[in-house]
Amino acid sequence: MNNDDKEILEYKGKLKYQFLRMKTGISEVMHHRKAQKIVVTYLITAALLWILFNAFVIPDSYAPVKIIFQLIAGTIYSLVATIGLLATLVLIGTPKGAYQINEELWRIGLTNHAGESPLLLRRYTISGEVDTTVLEFDMNGIPLPKWQDEQERIETALDVYVTKMKLGKNKKRILLHTVAGNAGLPEVIHWKDEYLSKNDFELVLGYSFGERLKINLAKVPHLLIGGSTGSGKSVLLKSLLMQSIKKEAEVYISDFKGGVDFAPIWHEKCTFITQESALLDTLTAIVQELENRKRLLKEYGCANISEYNRTNNTTLKRILFACDEVAELLDKTGLPKEQKELISKIEQHLSTIARQGRAFGIHLMLATQRPDANILSGQIKNNLDYRVCGRADNVLSQIILDNTNAADKIPKDSQGLFLNHEGVLFRGYLFDEKNAFTEGKKG
Ligand SMILES: Nc1ncnc2c1ncn2[C@@H]1O[C@H](COP(=O)(O)OP(=O)(O)OP(=O)(O)O)[C@@H](O)[C@H]1O
Ligand SMILES: [Mg+2]
Repeated sequence: MNNDDKEILEYKGKLKYQFLRMKTGISEVMHHRKAQKIVVTYLITAALLWILFNAFVIPDSYAPVKIIFQLIAGTIYSLVATIGLLATLVLIGTPKGAYQINEELWRIGLTNHAGESPLLLRRYTISGEVDTTVLEFDMNGIPLPKWQDEQERIETALDVYVTKMKLGKNKKRILLHTVAGNAGLPEVIHWKDEYLSKNDFELVLGYSFGERLKINLAKVPHLLIGGSTGSGKSVLLKSLLMQSIKKEAEVYISDFKGGVDFAPIWHEKCTFITQESALLDTLTAIVQELENRKRLLKEYGCANISEYNRTNNTTLKRILFACDEVAELLDKTGLPKEQKELISKIEQHLSTIARQGRAFGIHLMLATQRPDANILSGQIKNNLDYRVCGRADNVLSQIILDNTNAADKIPKDSQGLFLNHEGVLFRGYLFDEKNAFTEGKKG
């Protein structure tokens, strides 16, 4: 391509941009009062100017001369006024900051084969618990997968967090739902019982932009929570256990600190295991129950416990096993042989539950702050499908999420802010532990 061709292409590109902006401007005028006011003001001003021009500028001379003069002046004036109207429409169709945004996207290389960036056509706000700004672009031939691949760079370039990316109606447009960086999520969100999901067996992890983020244990049975000390793991774990108890699950908590971190009411609602030997007994009993359920489901030809409960009009309860510091528990370094064997057996049981628990309604919720790659055996870790990580360093983030996003995106002083394995940022709920169970049971 020579320079002339390039110039022609650039010129055509610019013309297309202006045309699209004008189209957007027309659509704005058709739908929005503010745009209508601008156009009406313009038209009135133009008409007034023409009247003034006629009254004072056109000479009051011999009639044919006057008509010719009026004709020429009128043609020129109409032309100028029309161009002015089109420019006004282009202006209306140009959202605030459009040129800067286009430039930022061009800078990060979000361009088509001709090196052109997408064109911002519309920008509007959807109010909610957190305001969302929607950026509507003409994709300019840049396919959706490229936008998705470049999401992180787009977020950095525009200093926003993209919460949703979807194609517009005519597939040439893309809508980016964005909120301003981390500021988009409130510092604290208090739990309310009305948030409790009625679906079996859905738990609410927290609040993400514009929606509650949920995990359905019937589909994704086990959860791993990571995060450095003070990141909010225990609060998140407890909020999930609290919901599970309200949904009538049987909850077992392994806590070698004797459960002191839990208000007394928790001790009435769930079973605490405070020693390793007792833990082995409990896990042995849970695995035994798993085998029983396996037999039962086979006998009745049911695929999972929801189906079994429906068929038999009964309620086999879901069983949740939680351990807040699982790396501490499973770390065998420096332990005597006997102890090592005990831990190995615990590990085997956890592994059985991780592999087989889903259909039988037996679930693991494990949390850890230690970035030791080898402590959670592959058998367990690979089956903990839902991963969540709070504030963390690169190593911990990598272990939990298989990327360093938690280290990159979660500020070092944040509490209760998490990223899940799909890259969704959310704020966990804070709740008053002592009164967590005093509200009515639902679900
Ligand atoms: N969702 C949240 N919203 C606001 N603040 C929170 C949230 N979760 C936790 N916090 C704050 O962070 C503090 C620490 O939380 P938590 O005890 O859960 O951290 P942790 O990750 O378990 O730490 P450690 O590893 O030391 O046990 C809480 O006492 C609370 O003040
Ligand atoms: Mg903790």
